[in-house]
Amino acid sequence: MRRMAIIGAEPAAGPAPRRTALFGDLLDFTGMPPLGAGDAPQVRHRPAHWLLIEDGRIAAVQTEPPGSDWARVDHGGRLILPGFIDGHVHSAQLDVIGAWGAQLLDWLDTHTFPAEQRFADPAHAAAQSALFVDALLVAGTTAALVFPTVHPHSVDALFDAGVQRGMRLVAGKVLMDRHAPAALRDDVVQSEADCAALIERWHGRDRCAFAVTPRFAPTSSDAQLAMAGRLLQRDSGLAMQTHVAENRDEVRWVAELFPDARSYLDVYHRHGLLGERSILAHGIWLDDVDRALLSEAGAAIAFCPSSNLFLGSGLFGWREAAAAGVAVVLGSDVGGGTSLSMRRTMGDAYKVQAMAGTRLSAWDLLHAATRAPARALGLDREIGSLEVGAMADLCVWDWASQPVARRRQAVARDLHDRLFGWITLADEGDLVESRVAGAVRYRRPDNRTPCTGSN
Ligand code: GUN
Ligand code: ZN
Repeated sequence: MRRMAIIGAEPAAGPAPRRTALFGDLLDFTGMPPLGAGDAPQVRHRPAHWLLIEDGRIAAVQTEPPGSDWARVDHGGRLILPGFIDGHVHSAQLDVIGAWGAQLLDWLDTHTFPAEQRFADPAHAAAQSALFVDALLVAGTTAALVFPTVHPHSVDALFDAGVQRGMRLVAGKVLMDRHAPAALRDDVVQSEADCAALIERWHGRDRCAFAVTPRFAPTSSDAQLAMAGRLLQRDSGLAMQTHVAENRDEVRWVAELFPDARSYLDVYHRHGLLGERSILAHGIWLDDVDRALLSEAGAAIAFCPSSNLFLGSGLFGWREAAAAGVAVVLGSDVGGGTSLSMRRTMGDAYKVQAMAGTRLSAWDLLHAATRAPARALGLDREIGSLEVGAMADLCVWDWASQPVARRRQAVARDLHDRLFGWITLADEGDLVESRVAGAVRYRRPDNRTPCTGSN
């Protein structure tokens, strides 16, 4: 088995040099590609380019090598992508990945709530959070929108781990004042005070941002959802994350709990929870009115195909969402999802959409794991692309590191075919390095990257 080298709080080779230039094949997006189109002008492919990193940001992209005062790293023939952004994931659910035998509501009671209760212990929360963020980096994910648990210190633990690694994380205390085990329930007054303190402590500090995080409609009273809406009005930079319309039993339960609401989504709308930085996971069982509402609000759906398959939730309608103007981002949804790899998530997204009659392009998939979540979070000037001025959150990948993948790449017809094959084969060993703000935070141990100067 391949050993993994995590470069955590302190880079093994000392602090990152101020000026580093990477040579390789750059791929990112200047806009959203049209759904299903193999040819899209929004795809920006810059093969054999130098990407210059100065003080953690992308300073320039050029064909000429920089001067001798730059540390140079030759990744010639390799793919340089923006770091993936996981649009929906749970930091307290590593213990339940692959937990057998249940659909959503059962799965929460049987597996997930017990795992989240263990986060009552701050030492456990700290250790699991460190494991979680390192696992993101090993998968090429450099930023994420994260659910910790109801415990305020679970948010501290996650942000602490992110700050130590320089990562952009968006997260918030999970709100749950009913229909959960007593050890995981909060109340409106205390949860408002806890969120206010966390916003004060973390929102806008380093690369952390706070997300108001009602778990889902069944576990919050009307009073708590109204409080969540009030919190959002404190600062337009706050995000909102929740789950919506994932499972048919869940949808029926919400209709019983909120008989006056037109739909599940309407519960959130009534409480002022839908806005430009709102990302709602799943949205499988929405209708046209819901989609129009999301589009009007500028809210996004996090499509979590691995989770939707594993929990048997259903097939998300990406085409319908896109037709209504709703932004779609990808989420791993670990632990309902079975992998933190956004590459595997892209592959699963393709297969789910194929079942639903929609053929996604490799561009749709990569865009939904990079630029789309950056935009949905209002962070597209900072992450999600290889634009000059953006933070140097990026990953270097081999196109193939195993014989079958090498063969597949050798016969690929064009760039789209290469990328699509690369997504589908999803070999973790292809990741050469993950950089956050220019600093190497993961490097494959056997990497023999030719370099000049110090890197
Ligand atoms: N709905 C409410 N909580 C959860 C959760 O933890 N995971 C998933 N997939 N759906 C949820
Ligand atoms: Zn989830």
